[in-house]
Amino acid sequence: MIIVRGLKMRHESVKNYCLGIESTADDFSVGIVTFDGRILANVINAYVSESGGIHPREAAQHHSQVAEEVVAQALKEAKISSDQIDLVAFSQGPGLGPCLRTGATVARAIAAYLKIPLVGVNHCVAHIEIGKLTTGIRDPVTLYVSGGNTIVAAFDAGRYRVFGETLDIAVGNCFDVFAREAGYRQKEGLPFGAIIERLATKGQTYISLPYSVKGMDMSFSGLLTAILHLLRKGEHPIEDLCYSLQETVFSMLTEVTERALAHTEKPGILLTGGVAANKRLQSMLKTVAEEHNTKFCVVPKQYALDNGAMIAWTGILAYKNGLTLPIEQSFVRLKWRLDEVEVPWVKT
Ligand code: ATP
Ligand code: FE2
Repeated sequence: MIIVRGLKMRHESVKNYCLGIESTADDFSVGIVTFDGRILANVINAYVSESGGIHPREAAQHHSQVAEEVVAQALKEAKISSDQIDLVAFSQGPGLGPCLRTGATVARAIAAYLKIPLVGVNHCVAHIEIGKLTTGIRDPVTLYVSGGNTIVAAFDAGRYRVFGETLDIAVGNCFDVFAREAGYRQKEGLPFGAIIERLATKGQTYISLPYSVKGMDMSFSGLLTAILHLLRKGEHPIEDLCYSLQETVFSMLTEVTERALAHTEKPGILLTGGVAANKRLQSMLKTVAEEHNTKFCVVPKQYALDNGAMIAWTGILAYKNGLTLPIEQSFVRLKWRLDEVEVPWVKT
């Protein structure tokens, strides 16, 4: 494995640095975090395809091509040498098989070569833990909204419990498909969701769309079909379509988050995932938090997107609780749900 070229071995009793590898989908990222929670590096290398969609094997190929360079860049940013790493963490799931396997292979190679422990991290748990670390919020209701996930979760009895989730596609995915169909292409650094957000600010007329909250779960595929139908009919300005899409989707998310908050009586709301960057969603959740007299925190963008720092930090929490993973058992878990994971480090 080329990645271990130039890595040096070291053994010391004081544990200080964890290197975390994120590779669940289109990003390959390496973060370095100290055991007391200082983020020293967080290098993200995104795979962007021509079409804007993700082809798992192409993304995995991208990850293996950039892995060595991203690890080297993270070490440089953290100003440490490879022989100072004490622990390697990797995103074990959920995610796309080929992408997860590439990250796992890099992590195993580093752990084996440096003779240091390996920890497998649940990607969704990591989104919550880095949010708590970077915002300082304690025991929140978390809304995690990205291209692949739409989850409302809160801690209870040893695990993060899922209070509500999508029954079909994720919110980010719904936005991305709509924007692609509308003929937009991802410009440098501007995701589809951000293009929709920009257009929505100029929308003036609300067009009624299917609002689908079932119990505490949500469905977005019917809404997507309906808005694609309206788009093809060409009777409404794109600005009004984007405005109506955002208002409907975010009202659903806010309703479920508010109900989880009222039920659990948690002391705040944490918003994370790529869609968390959206100002309209932020303002709706902020209003809910104010009405319930609780805190509202948004995870800073570089830690709300898929990133290696969140894997490194969650790896440290797991390691401190004795949760290491022997290499021979470090298989990836494509459908590893958030509520299957014991989180013994969380105390309320
Ligand atoms: P995961 O693996 O956690 O599902 P992901 O691979 O989808 O994550 P993220 O970077 O967390 O990656 O999220 C990307 C999503 O966020 C895309 O669907 C994108 O359109 C959306 N997004 C980004 N910025 C905004 C914004 N300002 N408003 C709405 N959506 C946004
Ligand atoms: Fe993610």
